[in-house]
Amino acid sequence: MASSVLDLIGQTPIIRLRHVVPSNSAEIWVKFEAKNPTGSYKDRMAVSIVRNAMDRGDVAVGDAVVEYTGGSTGSSLAFACAALGLKFTAVFSDAFSLSKQQTMEAFGATVIVEKSHGQGITPDLIGRMKQKAMALCNETGAFYADQFGSADVPLGFEPMGQEIADELGDGIDVFCASVGTAGALMGTYRGLTKSGARPRVVAFEPVQSPFLTTGKGGPHKVEGVGVGFYPPFLDQSVLNDVRTVDQEAGFAMCRRLAREEGIFCGGSTGLNVAGAVELAKELGPSQRIVTLACDSGLKYLGGHIYAI
Ligand SMILES: Cc1ncc(COP(=O)(O)O)c(C=O)c1O
Repeated sequence: MASSVLDLIGQTPIIRLRHVVPSNSAEIWVKFEAKNPTGSYKDRMAVSIVRNAMDRGDVAVGDAVVEYTGGSTGSSLAFACAALGLKFTAVFSDAFSLSKQQTMEAFGATVIVEKSHGQGITPDLIGRMKQKAMALCNETGAFYADQFGSADVPLGFEPMGQEIADELGDGIDVFCASVGTAGALMGTYRGLTKSGARPRVVAFEPVQSPFLTTGKGGPHKVEGVGVGFYPPFLDQSVLNDVRTVDQEAGFAMCRRLAREEGIFCGGSTGLNVAGAVELAKELGPSQRIVTLACDSGLKYLGGHIYAI
């Protein structure tokens, strides 16, 4: 029994992949975040942002919250605001899944759609979305959730690291994930280290938008990651490596995960697992890799990943 839907966030299972990992490779484990109320790990950070802002007195019941978002953070913020009695406005774009817009609206959010003109997710689009969100906050005095800057974002992800360490102990050799804000990678890593684990950390980005590895982003289709600028949370000092992964390999991995493992996920998870498989082949047996199954494939039905 739960006294609030917010109590259903976290304590997600961790699953060992059995079929998509070649033999003579390291183990790969995924944290299955589709179990969260909106089907995404972003519920962890959204509730952290909103609850902590309420505790500080920055917002109160009935106030408005604004964020620019590809829709996962927006769905989670819309959910958290609905559950805690706040209003939410998302600056979104048609470059992202329509189902995410519908989810935000179902939770009562106002959604402003910035046009992508068929160009996909580009640094220019992200910049325009940000400008619109900032203008809205300035005009209305709404609270800016600040997913790229609020310390409550990595804080909200720390329990994910603690949960992983509770399940796998300190025997984690590599923790890897693709980054958008890098809140999940950094917060989870902090939770892992607070629990005594000392994994090496590897960040992934789409090869189509190799900003972190080359300084130049580009258009790509992996929702939530590859934002085309250096995310402030990403702490170089804890990163052991940054690698590019082909988005097409990631999307193919999504389809394999569904068919061969029964794990139904989105494009960032496919990128994470495709990158983890490459690492697993290099590291070989008796090593253990952990990555994140960020969200549910249900959010991507009707899009290109699962189109027949
Ligand atoms: C589906 C999805 N995967 C991965 C990420 C990346 O997470 P983070 O912003 O914590 O780096 C996001 C962020 O928006 C996302 O929406």
